[in-house]
Amino acid sequence: MKILIEIKRQEDGDSKPYIQLIEQEIERDNLTVASLLRTMNADLELKDMEGSKVSKISWECSCLQKKCGACAMLINGRPKLACDTFVRDYLKKGKISLAPLSKFPIIKDLIVDRSILYNNLKDIKAYLDTELILKDRDTDTAYEASRCLMCGCCLEVCPNFSVSGDFYGAASFVPVSRLISTVKKGEANELKKEYEEHIYKGCGKSLACKDICPAGIDMDRLLSKSNAVSVWKL
Ligand code: SF4
Ligand code: SF4
Ligand code: FES
Repeated sequence: MKILIEIKRQEDGDSKPYIQLIEQEIERDNLTVASLLRTMNADLELKDMEGSKVSKISWECSCLQKKCGACAMLINGRPKLACDTFVRDYLKKGKISLAPLSKFPIIKDLIVDRSILYNNLKDIKAYLDTELILKDRDTDTAYEASRCLMCGCCLEVCPNFSVSGDFYGAASFVPVSRLISTVKKGEANELKKEYEEHIYKGCGKSLACKDICPAGIDMDRLLSKSNAVSVWKL
């Protein structure tokens, strides 16, 4: 069975993007988008629909098992992990479209610069000055938050996040919740202040981030716990 792959490509951040169409034979039922991209890049004679030879497609991956978040991209318009998305789910449509996440600067083709995720965590001071001793009742929250892949899918769908904005989105509040929900009253006050400024004030609580998160993180539970500690001082 064949499938048409439509890829948004771009040489670098300054060049013009263009759409490339490539037809590919699908030989296995369990092919992921990540495997498809690897197969295409291994083909020294990869050609577009006009029969012209095309260059290798730049994209990012590391674990190939839904653990690192590197392969996040837009697949038929939705932010998803390429290693956790099966081509068979798109065979009926006969077409699969691949594009880079749209909120981050482009590096090349499907690779974007997500350093803002880490810069925002530094800015919000997502670290503690004192040792954190987890109590049994806090381990569930800490474990839930630690599952974040820093993939950026939540920021793609968040109506309130932009790279240049003051609101840092779920990719910040999830890792921050891991710390903030476990500290005692009067501790980590600087972090709580930053949380209120860069997360609490800007979040519309639509929970679009929860629906899209590939790790299935329970955003509302983390939000309500962190809001209670930082804003309501409970
Ligand atoms: S919260 Fe979910 S969607 Fe957002 S960065 Fe973490 S794993 Fe990705
Ligand atoms: S709840 Fe809505 S506004 Fe808040 S981080 Fe999630 S998507 Fe963004
Ligand atoms: S390659 Fe690590 S999550 Fe896809």
